[in-house]
Amino acid sequence: MIYLDNAATSWPKPPGVAQATSKALTSGLGNPGRTTHHLAMDAALMVQECRENLAQLFAIANPLRICFTSNATEALNLAIKGVLSPGDHAICSSMEHNSVWRPLVALQERGIELTIVEASTSGVVDLSRIEQSIKGNTKLIAVLHASNVNGAILPAAEIGRLARERGIAFLVDAAQTAGSIPIDVKAMNIDLLAFPGHKGLLGPQGTGGLYVSEEVSLRPLKEGGTGSDSMSASQPSYYPDKLESGTLNVPGIAGLNHSVRFLLQKGVAQVVRRETKLTQRLLTGLMEIDGVTVYGPSAELPRAAVVSFNLRNLDPVFVANELERRADIACRPGWHCAALAHQTQGTQDTGTVRLSPGPFTKMTEIEIALGVIAELAAEHQA
Ligand SMILES: Cc1ncc(COP(=O)(O)O)c(C=O)c1O
Repeated sequence: MIYLDNAATSWPKPPGVAQATSKALTSGLGNPGRTTHHLAMDAALMVQECRENLAQLFAIANPLRICFTSNATEALNLAIKGVLSPGDHAICSSMEHNSVWRPLVALQERGIELTIVEASTSGVVDLSRIEQSIKGNTKLIAVLHASNVNGAILPAAEIGRLARERGIAFLVDAAQTAGSIPIDVKAMNIDLLAFPGHKGLLGPQGTGGLYVSEEVSLRPLKEGGTGSDSMSASQPSYYPDKLESGTLNVPGIAGLNHSVRFLLQKGVAQVVRRETKLTQRLLTGLMEIDGVTVYGPSAELPRAAVVSFNLRNLDPVFVANELERRADIACRPGWHCAALAHQTQGTQDTGTVRLSPGPFTKMTEIEIALGVIAELAAEHQA
């Protein structure tokens, strides 16, 4: 199989991730933070080690400000619903995934104002338009770091600087960049960083997390189920316990710990270099095929390893099925949970075919994919 669906979830995982996850089940890891026996203590140490590894990856000073969640969506909901109150104003971009868009729209019914800043058709968000949208009651700016539809990278560091100057909380949806593009929460002035564990961080599904800076106060979405403060009627006020209700996904975190260690050893810069080469070849190859429309920023601009295209007026589902039937290529057709981004780039009626290489994709696999698309294009002339 040629797996080009890493934007949905990464595969394959680095060597040892499956073993780390399965060892947590077979050799036993207890329930961390609840008791003193050695299995529970081993689990607690492993979970703490994973927090420390994530902190190193994102330049987070205090690992205890990282709370584990089951995916990026849960982290984003925690951040958005935890920070906003009726009367507050929030800003996002027109490139957002529905994991940001839907919670913000839902909050409008509870008296929260929302401004959606329009990006260009290629996904570029102009900083000055964000600045112009700031009001006296703006409490949150929430943007994705890179688009899961066309790979466009938003100016997160510049938006962070603006948010810090104005005293506004800054939430970054790093679903398409955590582990594949460097992130430094301090340098980028990020108050809230939501990340999945199962995409660029190369861990198992069912993992993710939210970093909460000391500058921000969040209300929890769930209460109860912490081993700490057992006799108290209230949720602990300290992190990570405040936001980690219920038993953690210990086998998943064991796998994530292993994959983050792998990334730290390899270096995110090396992942960027490799994925950039693959993405550039994909872009230039697609643009040479008669009948292909490629979306997003022009090829020379930096982008995440996400490429969306259409082939004449063929249904993206048909194209994806043909890629699988002819060469066992896995990709994603459709709208990629991002209606706003498709409206922005004008593909709301059709969706697109999305190809997303990962750190283990080979150049020969990109060439095979390009060959199949060229073959399809030749068979379906205008
Ligand atoms: C930009 C973006 N945000 C949020 C999400 C949601 O991530 P998860 O599936 O881990 O909840 C995705 C998933 O594709 C995404 O691409």
